[in-house]
Order: sequence, then structure tokens, then C-alpha cells
Amino acid sequence: MMPSSPQTILIVDDNPTNLEVLFDTLTGAGFEVAVASDGESALEQVAYQKPALILLDIMMPGISGFETCRCLKENPDTQGIPVIFTTALSDPENKIRGLALGAVDYITKPFYQEEVLARIRVHFKLCNLTVSLEQQNTILRSEVEQRQKAETALRELNQELEMRIDERTSELSATLYQLQQAQVHLVQTEKMSSLGQLVAGVAHEINNPVNFIIGNLKPASGYIQDLLRLLELYQSDCPNASTEIQEFSEQIDLPFLKTDLLKIFSSMQIGAERICQIVLSLRNFSRLDEAEIKLVDLHEGMNSTLLILQHRLRLKGGYPPIQIIKDYSNLPLIECYPGPMNQVFMNLLSNALDAIEEKDKGRNLEQIKACPGRICIRTEKLQNDSVLVSISDNGVGISEEKLSKVFDPFFTTKPIGKGTGLGLSISHQIVVKKHAGKIECFSAPEGGTEFQIQIPLRQFQVLTN
Ligand SMILES: Nc1ncnc2c1ncn2[C@@H]1O[C@H](COP(=O)(O)OP(=O)(O)OP(=O)(O)O)[C@@H](O)[C@H]1O
Ligand SMILES: [Mg+2]
Repeated sequence: MMPSSPQTILIVDDNPTNLEVLFDTLTGAGFEVAVASDGESALEQVAYQKPALILLDIMMPGISGFETCRCLKENPDTQGIPVIFTTALSDPENKIRGLALGAVDYITKPFYQEEVLARIRVHFKLCNLTVSLEQQNTILRSEVEQRQKAETALRELNQELEMRIDERTSELSATLYQLQQAQVHLVQTEKMSSLGQLVAGVAHEINNPVNFIIGNLKPASGYIQDLLRLLELYQSDCPNASTEIQEFSEQIDLPFLKTDLLKIFSSMQIGAERICQIVLSLRNFSRLDEAEIKLVDLHEGMNSTLLILQHRLRLKGGYPPIQIIKDYSNLPLIECYPGPMNQVFMNLLSNALDAIEEKDKGRNLEQIKACPGRICIRTEKLQNDSVLVSISDNGVGISEEKLSKVFDPFFTTKPIGKGTGLGLSISHQIVVKKHAGKIECFSAPEGGTEFQIQIPLRQFQVLTN
């Protein structure tokens, strides 16, 4: 860059008088002044030192003022210097030509000192204003830039924050899910072990006394038969018994007593055997001793569970009992955890009974008699080496919006205190997680629900026996 002296004014004129007048006027007003007597020397001077303003005569020997101005404006280094034409020519055409070439103003000769100074001052003021505008513009531009940078940084920060929130949210939901699963597991274990312990305890307590009865029934029946035989012998030996004996014999209706006594013994025998069966089923249901995978007859588990729920099948007051339809097929033994599997049957059957009870609440005796509650249990061996257990009921059914939630932990439609909403979620865990099986629920809008379980015949774990 060539050096520039802001207040230097270059006067270009071939007329020495004009030069002198302008020189005196400008230096008198405190400006620094340089002079040139033709266009060429003016261009040379400008190349050497850039003035702040040029007063340029138009009519000059050599290159004219217009030509000089064009040269100045073509050169990127000098095109910014304001040029004011000075000439005696005052016709508008020349003024327009000069202004079109890039001049900022036009002063006609003869000069009026005050006019020259006033015009020059206006141009310097304009220049200063332009400079300060440009400076402000630069400051503004850098402020805008800074703001844009800040905005970008904010946006990035925001994105990062959102990302972190997303991460955190998914971490939290994962933790919540894990917590719920853990809770389900805990409740299940708790439920299983408390119910199992209770059932096992009751079974054990009943087992001993019922064994006394069964064990003593046979000899007692033998003794009674011996006594009856002895009585017969007495009767044939002494056909003429005393009146007292005859009267008592009639009073107790001896022939009836003899036949009835035997009947009583045989029904006592049947009752005791029944108790034994129930005890066996209770133990079978709890199967606390069997925490390992076993080869199991699923029908046996189902029947034991039904037996435990027996009391809920018989409705009171002339109501028909809930029908249980067993559509069992010929199933092989299945590898599974027997206790938990019975728990699943228990949960599904209880839900079915609840659904039937719920439906019956809104029906009268006639309606219930016409279409009594019914639970259908169907089993089937499937092609893909698994078995299907289907438990369906004709209860209230599940609406479509609730259907997707039934396996969620704590989802219940039952009154507070009645349902925990964990039965199905526990069953889901047992079937899917513990046995690599499948559990599905189907329900029709007009009522009735079916739960289908699929269990693989074999588990991958090693069998313990
Ligand atoms: N067979 C069914 N018919 C109609 N609705 C059912 C049936 N089985 C389940 N449901 C619905 O699914 C919900 C969840 O069942 P789930 O067994 O998980 O919990 P619950 O029975 O309410 O409580 P609990 O923990 O005592 O079993 C029930 O409240 C009920 O609304
Ligand atoms: Mg339930």
C-alpha cells in the first residue's frame, strides 16, 4: 500500500493563476496541498503518494481531465479517491459526463473561495462519515458473527443436552424395567414360597392322621365282621333268645344294621382314600422339593391345581356349577419346573374364574342356568416339538385396549385388595424366561378369553435325574 496523507489535496490545473488561487485558498484553510500542471504528472504523483481529494481541471494539454479521471477510476488502488472537477465549462452535458466517470462534484470557474472550501469540507465530512459508517459496519458485522457463533454453540449445546436427556431417559426406563422385573420376580418367589409352604404344611399335617384312619379302617372292618359272625353263631346256637334280647334286636333293626355297617365302612374307606388323594395333589401342586427341571406330566399338574380351586367351582343357592371341560390329548412328559408351571395354571384358572364371576354379577339365575360358566382346558402336541396348553373361558372378556396391557406388571381391573395385577406378568416370566416358551392372549369383544401357552418339550439345561 502506498502511504496516504488524509488531508492532502492534489490540485491539477495547467493554468498557473488558477493553481495559485486554489493553493492559497486551501493552505490558508489549513489543508496540505500538492499540485500538478497536467494529467500525466498528476497520475505519477498519485501513484507515489495518495491524496485525500483531487481537484481536477478538465481542459488541459495532453490527456484531458476526463481521461485522467478514467485512469484513476480504473486503477483499484486509486479508484476510491474523491475527484472534484474544476472548469470553466458549465454546460450540463460536461457535468453529467464528469459525474458519470465517477467524480463526486463539480466546481465552475471563476472560483469563489468560500464555495470551494465549503464543497471540500462537505466531501471530507462525507468521507469521514463513510469511514465511521464502515467502521460501525465492521463492528456490527463482527457482532453478528459473534452472535451467530454463540447461537451455533448454543444449538450444539442444546443438541448435546437433548442427547444426554435421551440417554438418561432410556437409562432410567431400562432401570425401571429392571426394577419392575426384579419386583415381579420377588413377589413371585414370595407368593410361590408362601403358598407352596402353606400347601405343603397342610398336606403334611393331614397326611399323618389320615394315615392312622386308613391304616386302622381295615382291621376295624375285620373286627366288626368277626363280631357279626360271632353274633350269627350265637343266634344259631341259641335260637330262643330272651325277650330282652329279641326286643333290643328289633329296636336296633339288626338286619339293617348289619348291611348298613358294612356300607358305612366302605364309604369311610372311600372318604379316607379321597383325602389321601387330595393330600397327594396338594403336595404335587406345591412341589417345593423340586426346584430343578423335571420330566413332568402337565395334566397331573393341571388336575392338582383344579383340585385346589374346586371350592370355587360349586356355586351356591341353586346356581349351576362352573363346568370344566378337559380336552386333553396324549402328551409326552415335558421337561419343566413343576412348581412354577403349576403356578401359571393357577394364575390362568383363577383369572378365568374371576372373569366368569364378574360376568355372573350382571346376570340372573335363569340367564346363568341357560348359559353357565365354562372353562375349557385343551392340550395338544405341536409339530415344532412343543406342547400347547389352552385355557379358555366364557367370562367377561378383555377389551382391545386392555389386551395389550394384561401382561404388564401391576395392571389390574380388579378392586383394590383383590388383585395385585401380577398374576399374568409372573406367568409371562415363568413361561417365556424360565421355559423359553410363549404365552398369548385372545379375547373377543362379545366376551370370552383364551390364553395359549406353548412350552418346548425339552429345555436346554441338563436334566438332574
Ligand atoms: N380370563 C380373563 N378374562 C378377562 N380378563 C382377564 C382374564 N385374565 C386376565 N384378565 C385381565 O387382566 C388383568 C391382569 O391379570 P393378572 O392376573 O395379571 O392380575 P389380577 O388377576 O388383576 O391380580 P392377581 O395378581 O391377583 O392375579 C386382570 O385384572 C383382568 O382385567
Ligand atoms: Mg390374576
